[in-house]
This record gives sequence, C-alpha cells and structure tokens, in this order.
Amino acid sequence: MHKIDVILGLQWGDEGKGKIVDFLATDYDIVARFQGGPNAGHTLKFDGKKYVLHTVPSGIFRNDLINLIGNGVVLDPIVFQRELRSLEQSGVQFHQRLLVSKKAHLILPTHRWLDAASEAHKGKAKIGSTLKGIGPTYMDKTGRNGLRVGDISQSNFKDLYNALKVKHLELLKIYPAIEFDLEKEEEAWFESLNTLLALKQVDAEYYINEALADGKKILAEGAQGSMLDVDFGTYPFVTSSNTITAGVCTGLGVAPQRIGRVIGITKAYCTRVGGGPFPTEQDNETGEKLRQLGMEFGSTTGRPRRCGWIDLPQLKYTIMLNGVTELCMTKIDVLNAFDEIQAATHYRYDGATTDRLPFDLNAIAIESVYQTFQGWQSELDDIRSFDKLPSAARSFIEALQSYLGVPFSMISTGPEREKLILRNDE
Ligand code: GDP
Ligand code: IMO
Ligand code: MG
Repeated sequence: MHKIDVILGLQWGDEGKGKIVDFLATDYDIVARFQGGPNAGHTLKFDGKKYVLHTVPSGIFRNDLINLIGNGVVLDPIVFQRELRSLEQSGVQFHQRLLVSKKAHLILPTHRWLDAASEAHKGKAKIGSTLKGIGPTYMDKTGRNGLRVGDISQSNFKDLYNALKVKHLELLKIYPAIEFDLEKEEEAWFESLNTLLALKQVDAEYYINEALADGKKILAEGAQGSMLDVDFGTYPFVTSSNTITAGVCTGLGVAPQRIGRVIGITKAYCTRVGGGPFPTEQDNETGEKLRQLGMEFGSTTGRPRRCGWIDLPQLKYTIMLNGVTELCMTKIDVLNAFDEIQAATHYRYDGATTDRLPFDLNAIAIESVYQTFQGWQSELDDIRSFDKLPSAARSFIEALQSYLGVPFSMISTGPEREKLILRNDE
C-alpha cells in the first residue's frame, strides 16, 4: 500500500520545515499542506536568494512537482495573491502545478479584524496571534458558518459573504474598537479571488487517494509545531488547528493506515513566538546570543523569537503524539560558538522530578533540570557526513537520540538548501 510521508515541527514552530521540505521535495511527486494558513512563514534559501512562503507548499520551487493546498488549510486570498505575484516575479511557473482543495476555508477581512479585536480584548493575556485571522476562521469552520474555496463559484456566493460579514460586524461591537477600512479591504478581497479562481480547484481527497493508488509519492508539509496544536499544545497559547500527524488525515482526507514516514523536526535549541509557557526559555544573555546567532526573528511578523535550550521531555511528548519515525535537527550551526550546551532532561514541579508535562504548564511553576554538553566551537558549513562532525557534536546528537528513542536521519548545518547531512546515505 502506498503511503504518504509527513514532515512537521516538534516544537513551537519555525523549526526549519520549509528548508527540509524543499530539500526532500525532489523525491516526491506531490507536496501538500494540510493545516494552518498564512500564520505560517516557511523560509527557503538557494542560489543566493531567500523566499518566504505562507500558504504555498514548499515544493513549489521544484519543477514538475504538484503542490496542493488541502481542505484543512485556511486561505486568505489577499495574502495568497501577494505570494503568487512574488513567485511570478521570481519566474516560477506554478499555474499547472498549484492545486487548491474546494473544501479549504476562506479567511475574510472581517476574520482578521476579529482576530485583532479579540487580542485587544484579552489585553495582557493575549495569545500573541499573528493577526492573520486564523482563530476566527477556524471558529467559523467548526461553528458551521464558514465559506470555502468551492463556494466562490456558487451563484449565491455574494449573499453568503454578506451574511457572514454582517455577523462579524455585529460581533466586532462587543470588542474594543479597532480601525479598518471595510470598503477598501473588501474590494481588494474580491479582486484577489480572481487569482485564486485562475488555479485548478480539486476534490483534494479524491485527488490524493487516487494519486496514492497510482503509486505517486506524496509529502505532507506541516505548519506551526506540535506544541501549538489546539488539543495538545500549551492551550490556550496555541493555534487553532491540529498540527500533529492526525491533522494530515483530517486535513487531506487520507486514512491513518496511509501514513508512512513521519519526520519530526527540532532545532538544536528551542524558540517560540508570542505568549505562553516555555520551560527552557533563557530570558538572559544566552537567549540573546541564540537570537542573534540564529537570527531568530519571525518570518511572518518580524517579532523577536523567545529563545532557550532544547527541551527533551517536551520532544518526547511530541514524538509520542506524532508517531515520529525519524528526526531532523536544524540549526546545529547556531551552537558553534557556545563552549557549553544544555538540554533539559527533566522537570521539577509539585515536589517531584519527572519527564512528563503537567496538565497546565501555564498554572504551574516548573523548573527544568539540565544536562550539560561540551561545545565544539568550530564551523560546520562544509561538513556533509555525520562522521566528519566534531566529536562533541556527534556526542550531543547521539545522547539526544538515545534519550528520545528515535534516530536523527538529517542534520541541517545552515539555511541554504545544500547544507544538510543525510545519515541514511552512509
Ligand atoms: P519554518 O516555519 O519551520 O519553515 O521555519 P522558518 O523559516 O520560520 O524559520 C527557520 C529559519 O531558520 C529560517 O530563517 C531558515 O532560513 C533558517 N534555517 C533553517 N535551517 C537552518 C540551519 O540549519 N541553520 C541555520 N543557521 N539556519 C537555518
Ligand atoms: P510556522 O509554520 C511560530 C504562533 C503565534 C501565536 C500562536 C497563535 O512558520 O512554524 P495564530 O496566528 O495561529 O492565531 O497564533 O501561534 N504561531 C506560530 N509560531 N511559527 C508559526 O508557523 C506560527 N503560527 C502561529 O505566534 O503565539
Ligand atoms: Mg516559520
């Protein structure tokens, strides 16, 4: 039985999913996004250029590859149009290769304002949303009010849109006032639908399953990270979709037994953007050093990312949730300059030492227990095989995989496409 492989982030997002998907894409026929929306920012670097994708799957730069936006994704036609224009300017031919599920939900301008108003209402307790309208759009989806890509072609689409807009404008009245230009944004939104309509809309669940039956190789690209999963993340400081492997089934329409390799990505340290608990956060010089060396500023919002050490109990948890079959470590080069590196192996809370996450990380004072590793203090740029890594780097990786019980099959040593060590090749 042909299976679909999955790449997803095991932390709080920005693990380097875009880079790894772009690298591996040549082994596949189709790359598909299954959840999230333009809250994602996936960075690719090759031929001396940098590209950031928000809605478009990271296989788009590989000729001949089909890129599919699944039903689990929420799509903002305005952001999407901007993204496609920028791809056009870069000379990327995507028209025949970029497919959109008819069942993907649309982000309306009013969804974005509801997101902003809800955050303003929360004040200090705000989630730190990217303000792309993600939460309100998923709320309308589960509340059975949403508009989908396939609805645009229905004769009553304008009426459906107006009904939802009016409801949103009423809802906005309960929140602190925010400024917006309805007429202007609405015009831009309707105009942007033309770009969307120029692409092929598909019954993606049939498309994917038929492709699998035909022996096509498919890679599912996650957005965000498992600690931002709406069910298992640090709720309520999460996004509004299932970012874990289970999301592939609901976000593309594939059965669980169709899931093949699950590649979990972790940075060699840890970051998070926005509010919420972060047990290994280093709100100090170490965190600042990680931020500067790792250039940890958001790809979507430009916000500085919070930085800290790698958190092994947290990774063990997300490896369990996702059924991870192999690991990929990114940004190991960021640790080159550290004489010592730390990894949390346990937590202390409620008078006990444990490797389990508590019910509510927000409500509990948690202390991380660290193991210290020797740094390597040398550049890794040109290293392409695991054996050539400094022994301190190898010891670090081997200790982690022995703790986590899953092998690291890839080690990324820089943002560029070719800076990757593949261990399966050896
Ligand atoms: P994503 O959301 O998971 O795709 O990750 P982002 O693109 O938001 O953030 C990852 C950042 O790290 C991007 O700027 C990448 O170019 C960069 N990056 C990816 N892999 C590596 C690596 O191995 N080393 C370094 N230094 N940067 C990397
Ligand atoms: P990629 O795919 C990092 C975070 C936001 C906020 C919370 C909720 O690039 O890894 P939302 O806009 O979804 O309502 O925000 O989730 N967040 C991300 N953090 N990377 C992302 O995506 C993120 N997408 C959302 O910062 O804390
Ligand atoms: Mg990102």
